[in-house]
Amino acid sequence: MTFLDVKNVTHHFFKEQQVATALENVNFSVGAGEFVSFLGPSGCGKSTLLSLLAGLLTPTAGEIQFAGDVEIGYMLQQDFLFPWKTIEENVALGLTLLKRENHDIVDELLEQFELAHTKKLYPPQLSGGMRQRIALARTLAVKPTLLLLDEPFSALDFRSKLSLENFVSETLKQFSTTTILVTHDISEAIAMSDKVFIFSARPGTILKSFIIPQEIRELTPFDARNAPAFQVLFQEIWEELDTDEY
Ligand SMILES: Nc1ncnc2c1ncn2[C@@H]1O[C@H](COP(=O)(O)OP(=O)(O)OP(=O)(O)O)[C@@H](O)[C@H]1O
Ligand SMILES: [Mg+2]
Repeated sequence: MTFLDVKNVTHHFFKEQQVATALENVNFSVGAGEFVSFLGPSGCGKSTLLSLLAGLLTPTAGEIQFAGDVEIGYMLQQDFLFPWKTIEENVALGLTLLKRENHDIVDELLEQFELAHTKKLYPPQLSGGMRQRIALARTLAVKPTLLLLDEPFSALDFRSKLSLENFVSETLKQFSTTTILVTHDISEAIAMSDKVFIFSARPGTILKSFIIPQEIRELTPFDARNAPAFQVLFQEIWEELDTDEY
């Protein structure tokens, strides 16, 4: 079933007397429960597209259609935790804003994320990887039906990034959350996704899409990297991005 349809979306930014076209004629769809990734050169409009999907911006032209009601969770590169609030308060933040305070959900998530012991601590007392897990817990607390992830692992060291990829992948499977990930990391996109969309340089448009084979999908992101099909796909995507002066 199609969950999201993006049809002929174009977006211009108007500043002073100038017009900058960030996206041009973008078309794609995402099925319910699918995990898709966007790869593309810096400045091609990936973050703009997420803001359009989140409803923070309105497209200059084209349509964004969701099948039914959608609750969006948006997680950015920086964790944006409030340093003066406890971990517990940070995870509850989205719920508080929506006036849906529910301490059971917060406790359950912290338990599940093996971070219950950090509940009364403050963000500066945690490692970068732990803070990203807290940010994810906060995003999931509102039970989003669509999760938008804008380079959520890029600030992490390689080891934390790999273990967080496994953790996120497993968690999202449990919640069957439809997810869109923006990343610059080809391996991460292949290892985590069902489908990968390649964007051209600005103005961004979709050049190509790659369906990730089942043999890679059924592995954890960490193990996927050792699958023979992984290297083949990596090479193909690399070449696609290379020809576009990535
Ligand atoms: N609020 C804005 N006003 C004007 N121009 C903007 C605005 N936001 C983004 N742009 C421009 O739109 C283009 C796309 O930006 P965007 O941040 O979406 O790219 P991106 O693909 O996410 O890049 P990166 O990979 O570096 O994060 C860029 O040229 C950027 O300068
Ligand atoms: Mg961006």
